[in-house]
Amino acid sequence: MGLYSRYVRPRLLDATLGEKATGAIRDRVCAGLTGDVLEIGYGSGRNLPHLPPAVTGVWAVEPSTGALRLAAGRRDSAAVPVTVAAADARDLPFPDDRFDSALCTWVLCGVPDAHLALAEVARVLKPGAALHLVEHGLSPDAGVAGWQRRSNRLNLAIAGCRLDTDVAHLLAASPLTVSALDTYYEPGSPRPAGFMYEGRATA
Ligand SMILES: C[S@@+](CC[C@H](N)C(=O)[O-])C[C@H]1O[C@@H](n2cnc3c(N)ncnc32)[C@H](O)[C@@H]1O
Repeated sequence: MGLYSRYVRPRLLDATLGEKATGAIRDRVCAGLTGDVLEIGYGSGRNLPHLPPAVTGVWAVEPSTGALRLAAGRRDSAAVPVTVAAADARDLPFPDDRFDSALCTWVLCGVPDAHLALAEVARVLKPGAALHLVEHGLSPDAGVAGWQRRSNRLNLAIAGCRLDTDVAHLLAASPLTVSALDTYYEPGSPRPAGFMYEGRATA
């Protein structure tokens, strides 16, 4: 792993996904999480202050040591215990039916073969438990989707993720059942990076 992805990218993502830009979305997505929560792509721990009181603990899966360094302060001041696994969402180190809820915010865009991660989430969730998610992804507007395709390579180099992930298709093809999925352009974001998929899917 190069110096850029180790040190610079985690700081860039932490700043881009800061409280001012994402706090209201995080509040909505975290609402209703309960019990032991699996968070994949935990990053710098920015969801921790948004967890509702019904959460009893977080099992945080994050392969980036740079992101985990940035998360240390938030982990120390979290209201619940946070157990970190420096693992890959496509191969979760947990038994079947382990978690009461799962959380995933702006992660699937950067996971090659993201369907493997969703299959793993489905495996470790208790039957009927929900994955709460928000992702940016493929726009339904041909002009915007064209810009997403053309910008993918640059965005992968800088932010480590694709702009045109078809989140609805990924969820539909997964073992999870979508119970709610809103799509919208996030005001203030450039449209190629700002088409959001926000919702819930149950195991
Ligand atoms: C854009 S950041 C979002 C971080 C955090 N979820 C948030 O909302 O601030 C995406 C995170 O997913 C992590 N990630 C990338 N590939 C992953 C994988 N295969 N398994 C788990 N996490 C992964 C990255 O290291 C990064 O920290």
